[in-house]
Amino acid sequence: MKVLKVIVAELCVASLLLAWSMAASAAEKAADNYHTYCAQCHGVKGNGKGVNVRDMSVQPRNHTDSKEMSARSDDDIYKVIKEGGVAINKSVLMPPWGDVFSDEEIHGLVTYLRELCQCSYGK
Ligand code: HEC
Repeated sequence: MKVLKVIVAELCVASLLLAWSMAASAAEKAADNYHTYCAQCHGVKGNGKGVNVRDMSVQPRNHTDSKEMSARSDDDIYKVIKEGGVAINKSVLMPPWGDVFSDEEIHGLVTYLRELCQCSYGK
């Protein structure tokens, strides 16, 4: 009986560790994706000052601006990443990423953007 308890306890610890490392890697993956695909416009720090901005007629959103970012729902942010700026009546200079990322990866990016702005919808 004692042996069984130890095995059950070990299994619990193992599954917790697994869940923890999966969550951590999803967040890391979103940060990686952001740095690879978004930073050239939105900036490495997400402040809207990427290397492309000098020549852009519409400036990319500063994702650290909590006032602007809290004005958007998660659904809108999801939509603009997936379908591009035009999906929410914004500039075509924000490209659509639906063919590049899975829905799950886009959700990861939405979560990452909420970390950058330290905000949520309405606050
Ligand atoms: C080629 C430059 C470019 C790249 C690359 C780019 N964006 Fe954008 N993005 C823009 C521009 C420009 C806007 C602002 C559009 C406007 O204000 O009309 C924008 C706007 C946005 C918005 C809307 C914010 C708001 O409320 O107005 C989100 C969200 C966003 N980008 C996320 C991303 C993510 C995530 C990536 C990477 C997967 C990315 N962008 C890559 C140029 C870019």
